Amino acid sequence: MTDGATGPGPDGSTDSRAAADGVGDRSGSELDPRVREHTAGEEQDGIPFIGAGPGDPGLLTVRGKELVDEADLVVHAGSLVSSALLEEHCADAELVNSVGKDLEELIPLMRDAHESGRTVVRLHSGDPAVYGAALEQIDALEREGVPAYIVPGVTSSFAAAATLRTQLTLNGVANHVAFTRPRGKTLDAEDDHVAEFVEMGDVTTCIYLGTHAVSDTMDRLLDRDGVDPDTPVAVVYHASWDDEDVITGTVADIGEKVEAAGYRASAMVLIGEAATGAGYDRSYLYGDWANGGTADAANGESNDARDAAEPTETEADD
Ligand SMILES: C[S@@+](CC[C@H](N)C(=O)[O-])C[C@H]1O[C@@H](n2cnc3c(N)ncnc32)[C@H](O)[C@@H]1O
Repeated sequence: MTDGATGPGPDGSTDSRAAADGVGDRSGSELDPRVREHTAGEEQDGIPFIGAGPGDPGLLTVRGKELVDEADLVVHAGSLVSSALLEEHCADAELVNSVGKDLEELIPLMRDAHESGRTVVRLHSGDPAVYGAALEQIDALEREGVPAYIVPGVTSSFAAAATLRTQLTLNGVANHVAFTRPRGKTLDAEDDHVAEFVEMGDVTTCIYLGTHAVSDTMDRLLDRDGVDPDTPVAVVYHASWDDEDVITGTVADIGEKVEAAGYRASAMVLIGEAATGAGYDRSYLYGDWANGGTADAANGESNDARDAAEPTETEADD
């Protein structure tokens, strides 16, 4: 899809600077028509932006694997995409690390390879939709006349939850999940909502891009009256990698523990009771069967009666 504003000129040349500058200005009424024509992750024309998952090559989706296996050129997100995955699936492809490259460099590189008939894929860590900056590349490519689309992946907070053998939403413990990042160059103090999420009490707060700032983040939480210093925190470094590591603690002590371990990047910080996997209420979904006939006693009232009172609850627990 192109809107003609900065696409190829009469001589076929393009202005990559303009393409890069023009990203983000598509209005809601200019919805890409393909949005209605394809299902999520379905193979399409153009360059797929693939979620590589958290690291373990086994956690790449089947569709992602098919596309990566066929690629001639793989542009990947550097150290966040595991070398195990690149070795297993990209051995015959040219690899380009996107770290340190700006759009003016990346877009022509992908465009030219695509236009010369090479199969190009863009590999993002986890899922491209979460702190991936994928859309600005997709929009810039499309302004250059190169279609692109997204193939989802397993985001790192899901991998961290699996490592911890817990759920991010947990009945009676966490009704909501927040994906967030700490304040810094991108987020100023007034856009930093970590403390508000934690104060809500029933939110699992997943902090991306915050490994280097665990102590500062916890210090700010400790300054708030509404935050219990004993709130559980789990830090999962390199979830699903061979060198995965888990540090558990509380708002009061996790900063010290992470500093002692020396991690400055590549960890997921989960704040909230759900990080422990304990203290939850049984859901209504499995009723007496899963609870060995004891659910009524455990919940203090009949599941049937509660389901009747809240008819959508079983669907919501699915
Ligand atoms: C630029 S963001 C990309 C997030 C990615 N799109 C995702 O869905 O997971 C990078 C941050 O994701 C988190 N991250 C990525 N891979 C991870 C992993 N295997 N284990 C723990 N955290 C990870 C870290 O917080 C890291 O700083």
